[in-house]
Amino acid sequence: MTSTDAPQGPRPGQPPRDPRPGQSPQDPRPGQLPQGPPPGPEVPFQQLLERARALAARPGRSILGITGPPAAGKTTLAAKLRDELGAAAAYVPLDGFHLAHELLTEMGRVDRKGAPDTFDAAGYVALLRRLRDPGEGVVYAPRFDRGIEDSIANAIAVPPDVPLVITEGNYLLLRSGPWAQVSGLLDEVWYIDLAEETRLRRLISRHREFGRDAAEARDRATGSDQRNAVLIEASRDHASLVVSLGRW
Ligand SMILES: Nc1ncnc2c1ncn2[C@@H]1O[C@H](COP(=O)(O)OP(=O)(O)OP(=O)(O)O)[C@@H](O)[C@H]1O
Ligand SMILES: [Mg+2]
Repeated sequence: MTSTDAPQGPRPGQPPRDPRPGQSPQDPRPGQLPQGPPPGPEVPFQQLLERARALAARPGRSILGITGPPAAGKTTLAAKLRDELGAAAAYVPLDGFHLAHELLTEMGRVDRKGAPDTFDAAGYVALLRRLRDPGEGVVYAPRFDRGIEDSIANAIAVPPDVPLVITEGNYLLLRSGPWAQVSGLLDEVWYIDLAEETRLRRLISRHREFGRDAAEARDRATGSDQRNAVLIEASRDHASLVVSLGRW
């Protein structure tokens, strides 16, 4: 590892860089899928892996956050980094903090599952604090299961000596409510970008894989999911790094 490989992002609590000065979302055109802003520069996976390795090599524990709009590839990237880093990394997804389907039904919010208020944001913040506390032993985290559309408690064990925790999810850079505390608990937050057309195609095909018909899949992707995407995209400029992923 050379010094030029070292992560350049801010430590927790430092102001983030603005990686995309002067860029603003394009106007949507009637009758078309949402366009969104042009994606960030494409970065090879190996470069991201080296950057994650450098975080793991820092003294103490580091926490890397990965964010971006629905189906940008957050989970895929986090899982691949964890697989490559082996015992040096643990993976703790925000998705584990989805409110239970049963509770969302009572709240009348099932249709907006995935929106900021359908997560236990304060619980996620509390877990990040525990993950930062060297006095904690093993920390257990929940895992979201897309098959049952609910979380499984205490499904992920993070031993105290794991130098890097990788966490990923939609709202790591939001500035409202408990979400505002998240980025201060993370060493870096990478924003994963993707050409909007590709992202929507992947999102629609994932909805279809999980049982929605073509119309439902498209409605979900361009309706509720798109409202979330717009919120997430508005938080992009707070990221330490904005990247677009190539095909692996
Ligand atoms: N680099 C890639 N090349 C090709 N397909 C990819 C790549 N990364 C992810 N995908 C596919 O795109 C889809 C979305 O990826 P993924 O689930 O990682 O996104 P996500 O950002 O975690 O989405 P969500 O916000 O809904 O959890 C998946 O079907 C995945 O297999
Ligand atoms: Mg995901």
